[in-house]
Amino acid sequence: MVRIAIVPGDGIGREVIPVAWNIISSLHPEFESFEVEVGYARWQRTGISCTDEDISVMKEADAILFGAVTTPPDSCYSSVILRIRHALDLYANLRPVKGDDFDIMIVRENSEGLYSGIEWREKDRACTVRVVSVEGSRRIARCASHLAKARGCLLTIGNKANVIKSDVLFREICCEEASRAGIPFEACFIDSLALDILQHPKRYGVIVTTNIFGDILSDVAGYLVGGLGMLPSANIGDQHALFEPVHGSAPDIAGQGRANPIAAIRSGAMLLTHLGFKEDAELIEDAIRSVCQSGIRTPDLGGSASTGSFGEAIRSALGC
Ligand code: NAI
Ligand code: MG
Repeated sequence: MVRIAIVPGDGIGREVIPVAWNIISSLHPEFESFEVEVGYARWQRTGISCTDEDISVMKEADAILFGAVTTPPDSCYSSVILRIRHALDLYANLRPVKGDDFDIMIVRENSEGLYSGIEWREKDRACTVRVVSVEGSRRIARCASHLAKARGCLLTIGNKANVIKSDVLFREICCEEASRAGIPFEACFIDSLALDILQHPKRYGVIVTTNIFGDILSDVAGYLVGGLGMLPSANIGDQHALFEPVHGSAPDIAGQGRANPIAAIRSGAMLLTHLGFKEDAELIEDAIRSVCQSGIRTPDLGGSASTGSFGEAIRSALGC
């Protein structure tokens, strides 16, 4: 029996995840699901954002469908999604960006880098340690090299080795693993890469990079496909997998039924692929294409459909 943990989180996570889950469960009524409440809203209500018990329960699922959580800019509050990624050792964050004539997979190192969680505040400054380990770099480099090999495409290593020593190590290991895999690869500085990906998206296949660079680069790449409402992601480890839209809780539009659920629905499609239901994932992608072409779109894409009515249109395109 497949068991899915549903974690809507905060803000628009609570609007887009029910839509995505409704589609998945229509295709797979045999899946069992259970909801886990974590995030800022829970913290506001109870003073707790996520417990060890929540983490244990998530570990029991075959996959996790996650919305987004609000992280207030308060140095006493730590990010729930970072805690989950660390606790489940979800070291590879896969962020596909696909258009009519390009197909890019951003592979973001998800366990260390500037999001290592090693940080402190002093009187006149605050410090965050950017950790790049040999083992952490090697496992993400292998993951990206395997993906590039399977796709028969170029591997681009996004880095800032010209000024950051830890990126010299990251780049070296990525080059080693790419050579070992026998794939074509190049190393590019992340700042110029961020521009070039917009100007020449067709040049790129798989891009591997460190944690914060991957976070930023994937939002930037959203420009190519209509914005953050379009981008799904997978957080993969050796034992667990969590699927979530790239976007956050979007407090500016939360509660209005305006959120684009495509990123969440696509994250659900990635979950299905992960569980071995690739054909269903393809059906979902086809349905998204045909519904958008028919003019049914949420406001971020210039339409007037609500989050829920867009989801219903997808379900009817799927014949559910
Ligand atoms: P955001 O991604 O929530 O929003 C950025 C902009 O994109 C906003 O104008 C928003 O309305 C728009 N947008 C995002 N998703 C959309 C969708 N599905 N449909 C239509 N428009 C959409 O990023 P922001 O504003 O930087 O962060 C808001 C909160 O989300 C913060 O507390 C942040 O910490 C959190 N966050 C959580 C993430 C997670 O849980 N994985 C990831 C990113 C941010
Ligand atoms: Mg982000």
